[in-house]
Amino acid sequence: MKVVMVSSEALPFCKVGGLADVVYSLSKKLVINKINASIILPLYKCIKESQGFKDNARLISTLNIDMAWRKLSCDVYCYEINNVTYYLIGNEYYFSRKDIYGENDDFERFAFFSLASYKVIKEVIKKVDIVHIHDWQGAAVSLLHHHYKDRNDNIRFMLTIHNPAFQGICDRNDLWNYFNLPEYYFDNGLARLDDKVNLLKAAICLSDIVTTVSPTHRDELRRGISSYGLEKILPSKGTDFVGVLNGLDTKEFNPTTDRYIYANYNKDNVNMGKKINKENLMEELGLKDPNKPLFCIVSRLTHQKGISFIVNNIQKLLKLDLNLVILGKGEKDFENQLSFYCDSKENACCLLKYSNELAHKIYAASDFLLMPSKYEPCGIAQLIALRYGTIPIASKVGGLKDTIVSYNTLNEDVANGLLFNFDDDNFLLNVIFAIDLYSKKRIMSKIIHNAMNSSSSWTKASKEYIRLYRQMIQKNKLSN
Ligand code: GLC
Repeated sequence: MKVVMVSSEALPFCKVGGLADVVYSLSKKLVINKINASIILPLYKCIKESQGFKDNARLISTLNIDMAWRKLSCDVYCYEINNVTYYLIGNEYYFSRKDIYGENDDFERFAFFSLASYKVIKEVIKKVDIVHIHDWQGAAVSLLHHHYKDRNDNIRFMLTIHNPAFQGICDRNDLWNYFNLPEYYFDNGLARLDDKVNLLKAAICLSDIVTTVSPTHRDELRRGISSYGLEKILPSKGTDFVGVLNGLDTKEFNPTTDRYIYANYNKDNVNMGKKINKENLMEELGLKDPNKPLFCIVSRLTHQKGISFIVNNIQKLLKLDLNLVILGKGEKDFENQLSFYCDSKENACCLLKYSNELAHKIYAASDFLLMPSKYEPCGIAQLIALRYGTIPIASKVGGLKDTIVSYNTLNEDVANGLLFNFDDDNFLLNVIFAIDLYSKKRIMSKIIHNAMNSSSSWTKASKEYIRLYRQMIQKNKLSN
């Protein structure tokens, strides 16, 4: 079986969110299960300038891409890692930018990516069984395929929704302007949602199976919770809309072998291990009192991640008996306020950057992870935290609900974290509850053990994806 993922992010090359981890880990697992897996990815500047790319990538094709009146070209490079082939779509103008997202012409950039991906699938990779699209950036591939497919073409499509807030929206005439497609895809509703062209909607309709990254988020999307209008279309998919809980790369995130942290540890010596990590990290960051619990936030600093709760409460929060470390980048307002209030405090440190190494150190050192997400399709930070014996304090939404068993006095044998309905009024109360829990050593120890016993490898999720791929192919055979 030949599976091609189309994604705007994938490790080990480029990462903004958990999407990059999913595409990387899932394709690695597919190959282990004897499936031919490849990934199509834009060749961003950061990839092109990396030594790995210079040493290992091969230029395999140069394609002409017509984007309506724009006559463009695309260099296709090939790079193999873990037996997964990465096809990197090169175009200086669109992808040699400082950041991956956030440009004024993002829509046009990913339209180009989709046109090029479709051509790579048809002309370079060939004989593909499954195209697995992740989020809106490659969603137009399904529409292009629908428009151009011939009778011998048996490609099946899967769409995975990682973030429903971004849907690839444009005007009716942009169907032609960016994709050379007729406007009747708007008129007949296939690519239309609420009077706009909506690429995710088109991919939902054209995919044999749509997934999202946890069962609870699947229900939320069907019921109109944080679904950004997709509740109008997803229920019609019935059982072809599935929630598959993401896994975690348990090799990369393993406190027993982690090369970044100050001391490795396991379930049996977790207290000692975390103590060493905490003392060292706090010293490095200039935080004074390691006897107080260390709370961390490792996150994109965005609305989705509930950073407004932190910002609205930060002054009161820092007056509590705790330490706080924040690592991440995001919306400028959040960045400015957090760094302003944490600046030169003895118990707080705000690091406005992405750093994989620091993230590992923070997970190993912290007592609690704060994750007050407004919505969270799956979430990866809580999975890492659990593995490192760091207790997640999270909102009761999406994948957080599916991976965290919230502590109460009756369930200390299974509880591995705390779940709350966050709002501005009770946010601080929840943190105070956690500080109190920290003083109860016996219960804390139980919860830490339960957390470290939580299973989150990719084995289960990859099996489920393979089952769904097979089901798609089977259905195709039956209908032929
Ligand atoms: C998005 C979601 C996050 C999920 C990740 C990977 O970033 O916001 O919840 O874990 O995709 O699926």
